[in-house]
Amino acid sequence: MTAELRVPGADLTDIAATLGLSPVIPVVTLQREADAVPLAEALLRGGIPIIEIALRTAAALGAIEAIRRDCPSISVGAGTLWTPEQTLQAASAGAEFISSLGIADAVQDVTRSLKLPYLPGAQTASEVAHLTRRGCKAMKFFPAGAAGGAAAVAARAAVFPDVLFCPTGGVSATTAPSYLKLEAVPCVGGSWITPAALLAERNWTGVQELAGRAAQLANYKP
Ligand code: 3PG
Repeated sequence: MTAELRVPGADLTDIAATLGLSPVIPVVTLQREADAVPLAEALLRGGIPIIEIALRTAAALGAIEAIRRDCPSISVGAGTLWTPEQTLQAASAGAEFISSLGIADAVQDVTRSLKLPYLPGAQTASEVAHLTRRGCKAMKFFPAGAAGGAAAVAARAAVFPDVLFCPTGGVSATTAPSYLKLEAVPCVGGSWITPAALLAERNWTGVQELAGRAAQLANYKP
């Protein structure tokens, strides 16, 4: 590990502000670009001011662009990024934050040069340590449910007291409070607010209702 990679706190301020926007970051896999803006508007009506679009579909970049242009009140990010090329594309589309499900050092380097808030992912203590050595003070804990749930996050937080965790993957409306009770957890991520069935039906009222319930989870913050 070289000295120049030790940049404690380098991305703390920006990403911490992003994570403080909402108790839940809806992680959305969109099949139709045209659904992006009505979906973002439904989330906003429900009280959720942030959305992460997973870069796993052909519609994703166009969706980010449309949301940034037509629904600027919501903070839109791009998720599941693994390469510098994807990061540059997401930034060009207007992504306001970038996230990965694991370690992607090259993505972090691009976000740093673009001054974009970045949320990498970690599961093991070694991964958390790697990211902290590279200046990351906030990260996803993925896949949170399968990796042991809130008890696993608490165990990591106990030995990395300066790290913020955004548990993502297998989190639900039922399990979200168990994570949000932890001081190290400003928010969780998940797809339960935007389930594929509601998206397929363009059921924006349904999404708004789920968002409204998720917004109430702010009460579980310490
Ligand atoms: C994802 O990248 O799709 C997220 O991790 C969401 O996971 P979930 O569907 O288990 O909430």
